[in-house]
Amino acid sequence: MERSRADGGGGMSRDVSSCNTYNYGDAAYWDARYVAEAEMGHFDWYQRYTALRPFVRSYVPDFSSPILVVGCGNALMSEDMVKDGYQDIMNIDVSSVAVHMMSRKYEGIPHLKYIKMDVRDMSFFSDRSFDCVLDKGTLDSLMCGTDAPASAAQMLGEVSRILKAGGVYMLITYGDPSVRMPHLDRPEYGWQVILFIIPRPGYEKPANCTSTRSFLEPVPLTEEGLLPRDFYLEDKDSHYIYVCKKMDEDQISRTIPDANHSE
Ligand SMILES: C[S@@+](CC[C@H](N)C(=O)[O-])C[C@H]1O[C@@H](n2cnc3c(N)ncnc32)[C@H](O)[C@@H]1O
Repeated sequence: MERSRADGGGGMSRDVSSCNTYNYGDAAYWDARYVAEAEMGHFDWYQRYTALRPFVRSYVPDFSSPILVVGCGNALMSEDMVKDGYQDIMNIDVSSVAVHMMSRKYEGIPHLKYIKMDVRDMSFFSDRSFDCVLDKGTLDSLMCGTDAPASAAQMLGEVSRILKAGGVYMLITYGDPSVRMPHLDRPEYGWQVILFIIPRPGYEKPANCTSTRSFLEPVPLTEEGLLPRDFYLEDKDSHYIYVCKKMDEDQISRTIPDANHSE
C-alpha cells in the first residue's frame, strides 16, 4: 500500500512492500500509529480535497446531503468539505485514538461528527441513510489485512445497504480495475461503476507528453471491467476514483431480471 504525501510538502514517499509488513486491517496498528504521529496533527492519504473537489461536487451537488466518511483517520478532507459548504458529515474509524483526537478537534463544529466504528459492521446506521460514502484508503487497508476478500465483502455489503438509491460510494484507491472491479462489480450491490484516474499530487507531465486527456473525463471500462487495451497511463502511480452509483429498484431489476424473484 502506498502512502502519498497529499499536502504538497516534502514530495511523496512510496512503500509498496508495507502491505505485507504491517497489518493495515488491524485497529491496534492504527492506534499505535496515530499515537506516534500525534504531533503531526493531520495527514491526508493519496489526495487532498482540492483535487477531489470536482468529483465530489459533481456527484454530491446538494450541500445538505448526509455524507459518511469511512476510515477518516486524521485527514483534513472532511474539514475542507465543510469549508466548501457541506453541512452533514459523519466520520467513522476503527481507531479510537483517531476518533478521540478528531472529536476533540472539531467539538464546536456541528457539521462534523466522529464515531468509533468498524466499517464492516455499520448496523448503527439505518438502511438507505446516506447520499454519499467517501473512502480514501480504507478498502485498501482492509485489502492489506488478514482475510481480505471476506473483509472487503462485509464492508462493501454494508456500504451498499446504507446508501440511498441514486447515492454514490466514492472510492479513492491505488488499486487498478483488475484488482478492484472484482470486488465492486457485484450484482448484489446494485452499483453502476464510473472510473476516473488522476495523477498523484506533484506529478509533472514530461516535456514530450502529448496527451490532451482531461482527468475529469471518465475512463471507459471493458465488459470484463478492465482498462481498455490501448489505454495509456500517464503517471504510473496514479490514483483511481471509482464512483459507484447505487441504482434504484427498477434499474436493478432491469439489469438483473431475476432480482425480485426468490427461488
Ligand atoms: C490509509 S488510512 C486513510 C485515512 C484517511 N481516510 C485519509 O484519507 O487520510 C486508513 C484508515 O482506515 C482506518 N481503518 C482500517 N480498518 C478499518 C475498519 N475495519 N473500520 C474502520 N476504519 C478502518 C484506519 O484506522 C485508518 O485511519
